[in-house]
Amino acid sequence: MPSLFIKTYGCQMNERDSEQVAADFLAAGYSLVSSPEQADVVLMNTCSVREKAELKALGKMGMIMASPEARPHTVYGIMGCMSQSLGRSLFRELPRLDIVAGTQRYRRVLPLCDSLLKKRLSVGVGQPLRRGAQLCETDPIPRAQDLIRDHLPPSGSCSAFVSIMQGCDMHCSYCIVPSTRGEERSRPMKDILDEVRRLVENNGIKEVTLLGQIVNRYGREEPVIDGRGAFVRLLEAVHEIPGLERIRFTSPHPIGFREDLVRAYTYLPKLCSHIHFPMQSGSDRILRLMRRPYKQSKYLELCHAMRAARPDLAITTDIIVGFPGETEEDYLLTRAAVEEVQFDNAFIFQYSPRRGTPAAEMTDQICLREKEARNHDLLAVVNRIATARNAALVGSTQLVLVEGPSKTNPNRLQGRSSQNKPIVITSGSPAIGSIAPIRIAESTGFTLYGEAV
Ligand code: 5AD
Ligand code: SF4
Repeated sequence: MPSLFIKTYGCQMNERDSEQVAADFLAAGYSLVSSPEQADVVLMNTCSVREKAELKALGKMGMIMASPEARPHTVYGIMGCMSQSLGRSLFRELPRLDIVAGTQRYRRVLPLCDSLLKKRLSVGVGQPLRRGAQLCETDPIPRAQDLIRDHLPPSGSCSAFVSIMQGCDMHCSYCIVPSTRGEERSRPMKDILDEVRRLVENNGIKEVTLLGQIVNRYGREEPVIDGRGAFVRLLEAVHEIPGLERIRFTSPHPIGFREDLVRAYTYLPKLCSHIHFPMQSGSDRILRLMRRPYKQSKYLELCHAMRAARPDLAITTDIIVGFPGETEEDYLLTRAAVEEVQFDNAFIFQYSPRRGTPAAEMTDQICLREKEARNHDLLAVVNRIATARNAALVGSTQLVLVEGPSKTNPNRLQGRSSQNKPIVITSGSPAIGSIAPIRIAESTGFTLYGEAV
């Protein structure tokens, strides 16, 4: 039985695509292995959003290929945003690379790899194995049919990602995504509902995360009906699916975030008490330079409105520090916004210039030392708030979707609360896939620990 090793970098979109690719390989008789040295096919699904992510993936692939245990017939492929953005030039970086497949081409990965592997294996023992059968399949044109899932993800998990739209027309000045994922396009509601239903009925999925680059812009060309836009109508329809227990979505944008979505938190109990809501900066001046067409006050208003609609709502965010031209004053506005919102957690990114984006051309780039200093300072604020918010949950009972053994201690179970906090179950063993009440006894800035009630 041939085997596949797949490693994923970047966002949930990539995780979802990798899930699909893994399902394709399994359906074709491959097994999944956890070490690249044993694999007949090694794939890396890559991210271009920051330079660091690109360097990490290239370094890792280079190391796998150079390993003394690497087998001569193994097929190596890179897929995802780096492939889309860098195309054939990846073959120069990694001479042993066989396949480059862009973001719209992940369904071509199985046939490409499989035929190459068969060719290599049929060469017979003792014959020299020629490399150089390199294939490049990238496509800048968005194709909505690629969002369809044929096979279900490898079973054993109780949650799944469902792509509802792709691409982005917003063109934030720092962001490479519009060039790697193309224009905004939404899937028909019926297809999404069919997919969620199949996931629930055939795979025992309890939780879905609806994915889109700007998820709340789903179906924005469709009319508003009874005050509800297409995204909220989709949430309502998904909510109706029997057996589905939890709904999440990621990531929303303040643009197109209307009252109907705020209200959804009051009458859709399956909608989880967590939103990942990228803020990027607390300074209106920087938001404008970022080409984010809203004011900080609108962002804050939305956070307050959502917390009023759902008092236990956990809010997490993305923040970029050291955007070109960011002054100390701008930075302090970001820090003040973090204090005001009291985020449950935040990903802080040092601005990374990306090829082909307007911000990379701006002249007043911030030096690395300053970016690091702001990152370090903000992280301390974020961690302090996250620790306090988690500590406030000690003594409460949280409903936890039990996912499986804890990563740090396989003798314990772990799951996530509605607020999306990782919860380690220190005593009692509720069934995997069930939603169990857990009384929280201890907390850190990231994880909660509790006992089954
Ligand atoms: N530099 C740093 N961070 C970036 N992000 C996107 N582009 C860049 C960049 N060029 C961050 C944003 C986004 C998250 C996924 O990555 O905060 O929300
Ligand atoms: Fe990274 Fe963006 Fe591509 Fe996701 S869509 S993998 S975040 S570049």
